[in-house]
Order: sequence, then C-alpha cells, then structure tokens
Amino acid sequence: MRNCIFVTGGAGFIGGNFVLDWLADANADEVVNVDKLTYAGNLKTLASLDGDSRHVFSETDICDRAALNRLLTTYNPRAVVHFAAESHVDRSISGPAEFIQTNIVGTFTLLEAVRAYWGGLDDAARAAFRFLHVSTDEVFGSLGPNDRQFSESTAYAPNSPYSASKAASDHLVRAYHHTYGLPVLTTNCSNNYGPYHFPEKLIPLMISNALGGKPLPVYGDGLNVRDWLYVGDHCAAIREVLAHGRLGETYNVGGWNEKTNLDVVHTLCDLLDELRPKAAGSYRNQITFVKDRPGHDRRYAIDARKLERELGWRPAETFETGLRKTVQWYLDNQGWVQDVMSGEYRNWVAKQYAA
Ligand code: NAD
Ligand code: DAU
Repeated sequence: MRNCIFVTGGAGFIGGNFVLDWLADANADEVVNVDKLTYAGNLKTLASLDGDSRHVFSETDICDRAALNRLLTTYNPRAVVHFAAESHVDRSISGPAEFIQTNIVGTFTLLEAVRAYWGGLDDAARAAFRFLHVSTDEVFGSLGPNDRQFSESTAYAPNSPYSASKAASDHLVRAYHHTYGLPVLTTNCSNNYGPYHFPEKLIPLMISNALGGKPLPVYGDGLNVRDWLYVGDHCAAIREVLAHGRLGETYNVGGWNEKTNLDVVHTLCDLLDELRPKAAGSYRNQITFVKDRPGHDRRYAIDARKLERELGWRPAETFETGLRKTVQWYLDNQGWVQDVMSGEYRNWVAKQYAA
C-alpha cells in the first residue's frame, strides 16, 4: 500500500461517513479501516467501496495490542484518526462495562501501539505523523439556559458513564503528548446527524418510528437542548484539523444550531408530512412523552470560533438544509435501515422503551 491513514471505527456512523468522504477524493491517501464490528458497525455503509483497493478493512478490536502492532507495521500509516468507541449514552447507563473497555482501555492500547510504532519511524516520518482523537462535547457536562457555550478551556465535568469514559480517553491522549511527545490532536464535537446514523439515536429513531406508525418517544419534557451538526461538516472539520491543526491542541466542533429535542422532532414530523404524507393526520400525533434519561444533561452548546479563527472551518449546512437531506436519505435508503434493525437492535428497543 502507498501512503495510507488508519481509521478506527470506520464502519460506524461518523467513521463510515469520514471514509466515504475521504476516498471521494481520487488523490487521497488510502485507508486502513480498523473496526470490531459491534452492533453499531455495519459494512453495508461501505458497500460503494467494494472492489476499491484504496480501502482495506480489518475486523479488529482496538483492545488487541498484537493485532494493532501487526497492522501498523504492515501498512505504515502516516496518521491515525480514532473514531472507535461505544457511543450511545443510554447503553452506557444500562451497561457501562463495554464503555470502560473500549473507550478507555481500547484508547490506551491504541496509544501504546502507536507510540511504539511512531518511535521506530525515521525523523521525517516521525515529524509528519499525526494521531487525531475524535471526542465529544459531553465531556464538558451540562449548561444552564444562560451559560456561555463550551470553549476549549471549559473544565471537564462528565455526567454519564459514556462521557466519563470519553473524558478519560481525552486525558490519556493529552498525557501521551505531554509525556512522550506523541503528535496528537483532539476534536470535541456536538451532536451529529446525517446518512448512516444508527436508528437508536434521536433523529434516525424518530424517522424510523414515524414511518413505522410507532410512538415517537420524547424523554422528560422534551426541552433538553443539543447543538446539531451535519456529519459531512464534522468530517470536513476533522480533515482540516488533521492537515493544519496545532499539535497538542483541542478544537471544539459545533453547528451553531441549538435546538430543543421537541423542536427537532416537530421539524422532522413536518418534513415527513411534506415528503411522505400519511393518509390522514400529521406525524406529530405520534409524539409521546416517556420517562426521562437518568442524569439527562440539560443543554450542550459549542463555541467553535477557535476552529474558524485558526483553520477557517465553518459548517456548510444549516439545520434546515441538513435535516431535509437526512430525511430524504432515510426515505431513499430504507433497505439500509431494515438491514441494521437486527435481532440485537430489536432487543435493545424492547428493553429501553418497555415502560
Ligand atoms: P458509532 O457507535 O456509530 O460507531 C462506533 C464504531 O466503532 C462502530 O463501527 C463499532 O463497530 C466500532 N467499535 C466499537 N468498539 C470497538 C472496538 N473495541 N474496536 C474497534 N472498533 C470498535 O459511533 P459514532 O456516532 O460514529 O461516533 C464515532 C466517534 O465520534 C466516537 O468516538 C464518539 O464518541 C464521537 N462523537 C460522536 C458524536 C455523535 O453525535 N454521534 C458526536 C461527537 C463525538
Ligand atoms: O453531544 C455529542 C453526543 O451526541 C455524542 O458524543 C454521542 O455519541 C451521541 O450519541 C449523542 O449523544 P446524545 O445522548 O445527545 O444523543 P441521542 O441521540 O441519544 O439523544 C439526543 C437527545 O434526544 C437527548 O437529549 C436524549 C433525547 N432522546 C433520545 C432518544 C434516543 C429522546 O428524547 N428520546 C429518545 O428515544
């Protein structure tokens, strides 16, 4: 393989979009995609790359040090973009162990493997190497209605097992830079949405339930606020940070799109009413308020000015354009949705929404 990058978690939602966008450039470095294929990983997302020799897939757990060593020495990447994680807050509440294992132990194992590999490179390759860690705004905790948005200097205050495990991984990445000089970059991003989003997260779940004639389960009072970013904009931000970010720095990535969950669900229903009208009535009639998520963070909001100031990145999509594209994608790709609604997915939904 010629020049290549490693992508971990490249069969998931954001990692999959990243790989597809990256390889859409005919001149891009090749990709070695390292993914364990958990319930959230899906090779159908990458079906358009079948037969494309620029994409090598390896079904590998990032906790498997020996396998990581072998892959690194076989392919000699110039960078690692680390997406692999357990990512669903609700699952971290009902079963935190996997989050500790993958997000903390897995990131540690990957850092150790990369540190050994990087230490053996020649001077030029060592200087050019990058380890980009993809993290979340949830590490900063919860904002009140009048608080300033999260900046890169906001203190960490994670509230769920998921965000605590991501915070731990961020700290490890930071420590490997300060202690060993590993050339790292970290991004902390807000809520993503777009194609190939697993249908247990808010937006794809609501689309699937609406089309299936099922209740649209809004937690609590529906007034929790998230800052929504179209996944293609997130992938563009990561490419910028990878190419031009300052070593050891963190960059917040957000959409400047604060919405309550109820606003999001209403907008989705209105789009579906327009694009796939029901025989009678609005999809809004399916909205149901359900028991709140334990420890549910009230508000997230990102100040993404550092990324704009230093690297010139701004999101291209507004919430309205991005959500319309997303709904249309789900309408056009019901086959992909049906494929991922496996037995495991049905078990999760039955357990999570039992009450
Ligand atoms: P996802 O759950 O859709 O995908 C995760 C991928 O990681 C899957 O393909 C899964 O098979 C793989 N994986 C899980 N454990 C693994 C292991 N031990 N070894 C190798 N692969 C493993 O997640 P996502 O939504 O695409 O999120 C990707 C990254 O971005 C995560 O690190 C997440 O914390 C971060 N993030 C997500 C969002 C969001 O809104 N989805 C926002 C900000 C940051
Ligand atoms: O902020 C970034 C984070 O966004 C990422 O780090 C996580 O990986 C990603 O999953 C996402 O976390 P959230 O918990 O914000 O996403 P989720 O889609 O699970 O929920 C979004 C909001 O919608 C949240 O306030 C909970 C609410 N919700 C969710 C579901 C699944 C509901 O009201 N009903 C639901 O059925």
